[in-house]
Amino acid sequence: MCGICGVVGHRPATPIIFEGLRRLEYRGYDSSGIATVEHGRLACCRAAGKLDNLKNALEDTPLAGTTGIGHTRWATHGAPTTNNAHPHKVGQVAIVHNGIIENFADLKKALESKGRTFKTETDSEAVAHLLDEHMQQGMSPKDAAFATIRQLQGAYAIGMIFEGHDNLLIGARHGAPLAIGYGEGEMFLGSDSLALAPLSNRITYLEDGDWCVLTQDHVEILNGQGKVVERPVQTTSLTTGQIGKDGYRHFMEKELHEHPVAIGQTLQRIIDPVTRRVALPDMPFDVATLSRATITACGSAFYAGMVGRYWLEELARLPVDIDVASELRYRNPPQPDKGLALLISQSGETADTLGVLRELKGAGQSIVSILNVEHSTMGRESDLVLGMVAGPEISVASTKAFTAQLSVLAALTIDFSRQRGLLSEQKERELTDNLLDLPSHAMEVLGLFDQIRTMARVIAQARDVLYLGRGICMPVAQEGALKLKEISYIHAEAYAAGELKHGPISLIDPSVPVVAIAPSTILFDKTLSNLQEARARGGCILVFTDAKGAERLKDIAEHIVILPDVSAFAAPILYTIPVQILAYEVALLKGTDVDQPRNLAKSVTVE
Ligand code: F6R
Repeated sequence: MCGICGVVGHRPATPIIFEGLRRLEYRGYDSSGIATVEHGRLACCRAAGKLDNLKNALEDTPLAGTTGIGHTRWATHGAPTTNNAHPHKVGQVAIVHNGIIENFADLKKALESKGRTFKTETDSEAVAHLLDEHMQQGMSPKDAAFATIRQLQGAYAIGMIFEGHDNLLIGARHGAPLAIGYGEGEMFLGSDSLALAPLSNRITYLEDGDWCVLTQDHVEILNGQGKVVERPVQTTSLTTGQIGKDGYRHFMEKELHEHPVAIGQTLQRIIDPVTRRVALPDMPFDVATLSRATITACGSAFYAGMVGRYWLEELARLPVDIDVASELRYRNPPQPDKGLALLISQSGETADTLGVLRELKGAGQSIVSILNVEHSTMGRESDLVLGMVAGPEISVASTKAFTAQLSVLAALTIDFSRQRGLLSEQKERELTDNLLDLPSHAMEVLGLFDQIRTMARVIAQARDVLYLGRGICMPVAQEGALKLKEISYIHAEAYAAGELKHGPISLIDPSVPVVAIAPSTILFDKTLSNLQEARARGGCILVFTDAKGAERLKDIAEHIVILPDVSAFAAPILYTIPVQILAYEVALLKGTDVDQPRNLAKSVTVE
């Protein structure tokens, strides 16, 4: 979280950085700022709130210069005020920082004892003071930068510019992503390839401990020991064209409409269209004798993992341990010899998931990651990456990445089941056919916005909402509840439908809508009984089901949205789409900031 963009070049830096920040706003949007150096003088402009506030501030305080750094913030230490916004300009330096400096209190104490006064509540200001302190002692910018980063503990990506140095930009990375973009007579720094997309298609991702010294026509990368190192230059195919709203009101609306393409492109990569069989790369372990898998992820990606667990246990007969990354990381469960750790992440940068990756790698597990951003830190540290092909996901609430994750997990399940001798060729084709039908079924679901809006009108009046599902539809209910909370700020909880009678049923009255995910294929009769219990207590029942299910539910449900008939195997992928649309429609009715809901950020690179 927090986005960094920097340039050292020959054109005015501010517009380049500002547009970079626009592309990074998904990483945090509670304040922003830019600093430049012009004729040796540092100047800075910052604003609380969205980037448009910075735009207005820049009109009053234009920044000249061809070298600069910018930042869009997701607050960790200190409220989201203009004063706490980055860049932090102290003496001869200005810095931007993404991450958390864990020893900032000690650093601050030591710096204050030298007479320095801190003006903000941030941990990052300590970095600026430390850097300036080294400069005051007569060090060169490069030496001062190295001395500074050696004193930092925690996670950081940092951009630094210096008074008196128009042709210099220094970056450093440890535990938070940072990449270099190569231009003609100009070089760029960015938190990710999205920031750099229109500026350069040649990118180097810094490794943990790396730092870099950029001038207009030269890049030097050094490691934590101060030794010059070579890092690969990768070509990225991202273009700005992929990251516009394309006429949709919100990125979320656009991304919901991209479900069919995200599922289709992902499946195209892993299912041979002629043989209709799954063709995944070789696993770095013996699938046939694998004794256990551990799945971990955060948020929506975790719910995708829950669906994966049902599939892998039921079809591939593989025992699966699953937990959210922030818990698994410190739970220290026993690991089998040469087990599989399956990590799921859209961004590939989520700090908690990355922490588990490193933990389990250290425990001798094979690391397989399902990622949308394949060149991310997790991608580089995994033994094998199974890429989803969802394209950039900008809306903070994850949508198409979720169905793409499920598509990969479904294919993985087929692959494992076959390798474990549990799947005939015919059954495999039946399952892949179920998956290959999904893009067109997803298109049909996109035609249901109006019907889903009718349901949304009920939910928009509520203070609390219950989501119910059973079996493999339970994680879909959880995804629905998370999405609703996240973007409409209405409290929602998901329960296994059978759990209702063990407590939550006491919540039910006419003001608490109950949303059920109930395809007629999956434990339908049981779910029906649970919904009858809720109805008997005055609950307002809203259901996603198929035509057969609708027939049986028509007397107890207030609203039913009928989805295309799909197999039990494909159902969790298809049923996710309308629950996400429902949250979107409720958010529209509530008038919330759909793409950038309060307090959130897209990529959570702090613990
Ligand atoms: C919910 C959402 C988050 C992410 C979670 C993991 O809509 O977007 O819950 O799913 O922060 O992010 P990644 O997948 O990037 O690791």
